[in-house]
Formats: sequence, C-alpha cells, structure tokens
Amino acid sequence: MDQDSKKQAVADAALAYLRPKLESDTIVGIGTGSTANRFIDGLAGLKGSIGGTVASSEASAERLRAHGIPVYDLNSVDRVAFYVDGADEANAQLQLIKGGGGALTREKIVAAAADEFLCIADDSKLVRTLGEFPLPVEVIPMARGYVARELVRLGGDPVYREGVVTDNGNIILDVYRFPLAQPLAMEETLNNLTGLVCSGLFARRPADRLFLAGDDGVRELEA
Ligand code: A5P
Repeated sequence: MDQDSKKQAVADAALAYLRPKLESDTIVGIGTGSTANRFIDGLAGLKGSIGGTVASSEASAERLRAHGIPVYDLNSVDRVAFYVDGADEANAQLQLIKGGGGALTREKIVAAAADEFLCIADDSKLVRTLGEFPLPVEVIPMARGYVARELVRLGGDPVYREGVVTDNGNIILDVYRFPLAQPLAMEETLNNLTGLVCSGLFARRPADRLFLAGDDGVRELEA
C-alpha cells in the first residue's frame, strides 16, 4: 500500500469506528494535516448524522465548511465527544509528537477537551522512542531567542521555521535531537518555559486509540 492509500485506509477505519457512536448532537473535534483531510472528506457523507465539528486550524475549518459541515467555536459547545487527528510520531503508549503542520496548540486544546482521542497514521509513524521527528514548539515571537537558548540548555537543537506564522500569530521552533525518553517529564518542563506557548509533545494527553495502516491493512492500538 502506498502512503496515500494508507492515509485513506485509517481515515476510513476511524469513520467506521465512529459511525455507530454518532448521534444528532455529537460534536467531533477535527485535526489538521493530510491524514485529517481524508477524514474530513469522509465525514462529509455523515454530516447529517452529527451536531457539527470543532476545528484545530483555519485550514481544517475551511475544508469542513467547503463540505457544508458545521464548524463551531470550542467555547460555544458543551462537549466534544471525539477528536480525530494524525501524528508525526507515536510510541506504544500512544504518546505523540504533533505539529508538523504548525497547528499543535489548537490541536492540543481540542484533544484536551475531547472525551476520546482517535489518532490516525501510517505505520512509519510508530517509533520505540519519540524524538527522531524534530519536536515543534509554538513560541511568542518576542521570546524566540530566550526560548531557543533554554531549549539548547535542555539538550535540543532548535531551528526557526522560516516564514511560518501560526493561526495564533506566533512562531514555530523545530527542536532536533531532543532527549525525549521521559516524555511526561519533558512536556512538564516545556510547559514551564516562559514564552513557550505549547509543545507538540502529547504525553499528558496521549491518544486513546491509534489506527495504524501498514501493508497488510489497518490495526488498532489502545492506550
Ligand atoms: C499538524 O499540525 C500535525 O500535528 C499533523 O497532525 C501531523 O503533522 C500529521 O500530518 P499528516 O497527516 O499530514 O502526516
């Protein structure tokens, strides 16, 4: 199976998992990226069966609206039943690195608010230890130099993502060779860095279920 077919296969698997659980008032949180886009396109066929969606980026909101799927502000809904998104890396505990597309902060907010987080990815994303993929962190622009120096002190090699401004008006640093053997502890450390808005490390809020596509089809891993 090529990469595109794998993305389609996990999007279809997540939709099949969700279909019997959806009710007319169900709000589905929607991730960002090429795999999440496949899910959005599939969700269009179910738009009459749900209450609507909350999007993790302007790009996803635009795609949802183009399909005629209602998109709500997170503050205007009482409950997000599911969050569906891709990942850049996942470990066996379903802790993730996310943010390759730069939407990590809103992704982490919607994931935190959701009752159940379904991650959809191809099997190249499953790793023993997180960190081969550079960890994206969103930073307040004026704190860029300070946060970069702190990240170096923590053992990483931060690189400014040139020309990228997040939906929140901030910048992204991609941290190479970061020591992530203890993801929970590192997420906590990063959360305490002044000027760092959010890291793409999803350890405190891992996925609940991972749909992973390989050459032999889709398998499901549970946290
Ligand atoms: C977006 O900011 C990311 O967190 C994506 O979920 C992640 O980069 C996976 O994207 P793809 O589905 O395009 O691989």
